[in-house]
Formats: sequence, structure tokens, C-alpha cells
Amino acid sequence: MDSTSMLYQDVESELLVTKEKIAERVRELGRQIARDYEGRDLVVVSILKGSVLFFSDLIREIDMPLTIDFMQASSYGNAAQSSGFVHIKKDLDRDIEGKDVLLVEDIVDSGRTLAYLKTMLKERGANSIRVATLLDKPEGRQVEMEADYVGFIIPNAFVVGYGLDYAEKYRNIPEIGILRPRVYQG
Ligand code: PRP
Repeated sequence: MDSTSMLYQDVESELLVTKEKIAERVRELGRQIARDYEGRDLVVVSILKGSVLFFSDLIREIDMPLTIDFMQASSYGNAAQSSGFVHIKKDLDRDIEGKDVLLVEDIVDSGRTLAYLKTMLKERGANSIRVATLLDKPEGRQVEMEADYVGFIIPNAFVVGYGLDYAEKYRNIPEIGILRPRVYQG
């Protein structure tokens, strides 16, 4: 990391996951996914917006024909008051009946978003639905949700970068760091 970088000024100096580690793990996951889905009709779905960087790197490491689609969901409530209700802001463009769907996320925290999306998409007749997440924060879990492909298991910290935001910022940091508390403590 360049210590003079404006991009990094709000993250702790010790990065949680570096560019090199991300690239290496994304390559491994891509190879594993290509092996698992060989000969299948694979649709890889980016759950906007956090997953866009992971998604665009991951699909380039999956060496087989596939199609892509996008969805955006937002979960209402916060840690203190969570409704558990997920609103679909943008739905898939194409029908997934009979397809093998791989949902791509940046992070699984409470598990609510993915649990809801999996149930909803199953009802549309997909042949299979699996989840690939770059980060898994098991301590945050409020509903049962286990991802099929996990990049890194992380502690219960506020992380940003490589797609992950705080108040919509920091998504363009190319690696993952812990946000300095002064940012959200005001
Ligand atoms: C984040 C993340 C997941 C979800 C995970 O999305 O991308 O979709 O929260 O949290 P959960 O496991 O507690 O449901 P967010 O709603 O912040 O939108 P974004 O991807 O646009 O940042």
C-alpha cells in the first residue's frame, strides 16, 4: 500500500486482505467452479453493488462457457432493529428455469439477503442455486446461510474496499481493510 494514497487514508494501515491474496484466491475459486460446473448451463449472477469487483475478476477465472446476469436487493433495518425483509430493486433479466445459478456476493453477514434470494429463486425452477462469496463473517449470522464457495473468513470488523462500502464510499480501494473507527464515530 502507498501510505500517501488518498484512497487509503480512512483504513487501518494493516490491510486485512491484500491485492495479491485476493487475486490468488479468486483464481483458485474460479478453477474449482469450472470443475464443479463442467458441462452445465451456468448463469453467474452479481448481487449489486458490492460484488461487482469480485464478480468481474471471478468470471474471468472460470474457464468454461457461461452467461451473466445482475440483481440488486436491499435489506431494511439495522443491527438493532432488523425487519428481515428484503426488497428487490433490480431483478434478473432472464428466466432461470432449468439453469444452474451461482449467486456472487462480496460478503455474507447476517445471511438474510442470500437466504431470501435463494428461497425466491428456487421457486422459479432453477436446477441448482449456489453461492460464492468473497468474504464470510460467521459471527454476524442471524439466519442459517452457508455459502458454497468462500474466499476468506473474516472477524467481526467493519471492512471496506474491493467493492465493499461505507456510506457508498471506498468501493474502489483495490484491497480490503478495516475502516478506522473515527470515520463512523464522527
Ligand atoms: C451488503 C452485501 C450483501 C449484504 C450482506 O449489501 O453486499 O448483499 O449486505 O449482508 P447480510 O448477510 O446481513 O444480508 P448492501 O445492502 O450493503 O448493498 P451493496 O452491495 O450495494 O453495498
